[in-house]
Amino acid sequence: MTTTLKIDISKVFDYVPERLVFSRRDEAIKALKALYDKTGKGNDFLGWVHLPSSITDNHLSELKKTAHMLQNEAEILVVTGIGGSYLGTRAVDEALSHSFQPWLKKNDFPRLLYAGQNISEDYMAELLEILEDKSYAIAVISKSGTTTEPALAFRILREHLEKKVGKDAAAHRIVAITDAHRGALKQLADSQGYKTFVIPDDVGGRYSVLTPVGLLPLAVAGHDIDALVNGARAMEMATSPETAFENNPSALYAATRNTLYRNGKNIEILASFHHKLVWFAEWWKQLYGESEGKDNTGIFPASVNYTTDLHSMGQYVQEGMRSIFESVITVENPAKTLRIPHDEVNLDELNYISNKRIDEVNKMAELGTLLAHVDGGVPNIRISIPALTESSVGELIYFFEIACGISGYLQGINPFDQPGVEAYKKNMFALLGKPGFEELSRKLRNRL
Ligand code: PA5
Repeated sequence: MTTTLKIDISKVFDYVPERLVFSRRDEAIKALKALYDKTGKGNDFLGWVHLPSSITDNHLSELKKTAHMLQNEAEILVVTGIGGSYLGTRAVDEALSHSFQPWLKKNDFPRLLYAGQNISEDYMAELLEILEDKSYAIAVISKSGTTTEPALAFRILREHLEKKVGKDAAAHRIVAITDAHRGALKQLADSQGYKTFVIPDDVGGRYSVLTPVGLLPLAVAGHDIDALVNGARAMEMATSPETAFENNPSALYAATRNTLYRNGKNIEILASFHHKLVWFAEWWKQLYGESEGKDNTGIFPASVNYTTDLHSMGQYVQEGMRSIFESVITVENPAKTLRIPHDEVNLDELNYISNKRIDEVNKMAELGTLLAHVDGGVPNIRISIPALTESSVGELIYFFEIACGISGYLQGINPFDQPGVEAYKKNMFALLGKPGFEELSRKLRNRL
């Protein structure tokens, strides 16, 4: 199993010398070993480290069987979850789907729509409007089984589906993906007889895309989950502690971004020149933001989509505060071919590029931007994959996950918890009048 992902860190050396990055070699490999040996912080949440290589064919078959059943029942699957129970699916689906999927005359597989990732009344009401005359199924996903946003959305969707098709048929079209034993969702699923899949205890939300959390909806949407997992497996092998630091893309990425951070670059922008990767960047932001933003430290993860954002954020990146570095995901080959036509009149003066592929223009924009930003004091890490395929995306996922674990340890924090997300929840519960929050409610109301 070989990997196709490549990383180029040479465009950071104007800012931090190569020897400084490589001086982190031992530290990075030690951090990686701590992930493997489970000796670091958060070591009860390391089930994802060997997840790709431990997924069995039986498990994949079971997922595909359920996916097939849902494909026969529904034209839409409403994926109901938030954070790590949502973003991985959306990232992969958007990366691999037709850009204009909703307008295709015919969809071979159910389309994924999302609920429970916000609390917008308009969003929910408009989703119900769409679902009214469509056949749909629901994948309700929550590891804790108690998260407010998906629980709320699921209560509404369940009532809607039951009214539409009847309680028994609805139960047949609902799949719950949750903890093996705990949580309200598990209890509800058992009491209603929903098909369930388990999120392993030792896999946290943002590292869970290769569990049923991501694999089931992605299989329903027609993506090749075997190839996705195989890509991740190949990357698991390529990034093991046995691989030399200079050949280990995740260790290199982690050490490079950590060196930049220690030398004043505290914002990382994930950029790509492919609109299909917009949601992949959202997944990446969650992975790194929730993992590293701790103890008043951590790189702030941001994202841009070029060339669109060269006409907005590009100005800031070129000439704003010099606290930024960029990591660019580049896709070597587009799936389709489109050439620029020749025009006899040439009023737009584009004949100098006639007959070239659009992607060649995109690539020159990418290289031109890279050099301009480096010249402007923005170091650049380049991560390239050959094409947007299941296998490449699987590689990318695991590459970023293991690098995030290494990075977190280099930073000295626990990359597998998220204590900070509780603060808003407590306030929201208090303001909503949840029993048990009366005292906090009074205090908060006095401040409003
Ligand atoms: O990464 C995480 O752990 C979080 O983003 C969770 O995925 C998110 O809060 C949703 O949690 P749950 O799956 O328990 O509903």
